[in-house]
Amino acid sequence: MGGTITTLIFDLDGVIVDTAKYHFKAWKKLANSLGIDFSEEENEQLKGVSRRGSIDKILTWGNLELTEERIEELMHQKNQWYLEYMGNMDASEILPGVVSILNQAKAKKMKIALGSASKNAPLILDKVNLTHYFDAIIDGNVVTTSKPDPEVFVKGAEDTQSKAEECIVFEDSLAGVEAAINGKMIAVGIGHPQTLKQAHLNLQGFDQIDLEKDILEKI
Ligand code: BG6
Ligand code: MG
Repeated sequence: MGGTITTLIFDLDGVIVDTAKYHFKAWKKLANSLGIDFSEEENEQLKGVSRRGSIDKILTWGNLELTEERIEELMHQKNQWYLEYMGNMDASEILPGVVSILNQAKAKKMKIALGSASKNAPLILDKVNLTHYFDAIIDGNVVTTSKPDPEVFVKGAEDTQSKAEECIVFEDSLAGVEAAINGKMIAVGIGHPQTLKQAHLNLQGFDQIDLEKDILEKI
């Protein structure tokens, strides 16, 4: 693609930390309590999607219509379970190679932003001691739309004074890869290349990844 990249925008869950497994576990427990079940493949459709967007999908799968009040209670319950699962989290749960990529970006004087649907994002970044790396943190508390809407990444670009075409977005979810593409940014899929085949580049993760050779020269 060729242009100058000034800014890296990272999704959080499943890209920086392995919290995607805790979201899955908590949603599954909640769904099961309502007599609904879903597979790991179906869970791909929940990744990157807001708390409200996720419960709406689960209720649709189970053909359940509930009152607003009940939905609020269920979202609260799911979050309580999620917070329990990730309660003891520390820097050891940062995914391999993440700190190295962040340091490589800093060494190149690139901007670093977070673009996450999660309302728990600031708490998690603090728990794993990564907050200081970020020039901008855009999370579920400040966006009004859910990925695949590009809002979360567009705000990340704005807050770092970057143009869309100067940004690379790292995403483990289909909704997130679509959001990056919708925002006219370069999408790097982290994880299953088949699920994320729309991405401009696919990586298994950041382990042993050289920012210049393995990413910037390949896009
Ligand atoms: C995304 C996760 O990052 O955040 C989703 O991929 C999650 O699984 C969403 O539902 C919202 O998170 P939270 O922490 O606000 O419930
Ligand atoms: Mg994610």
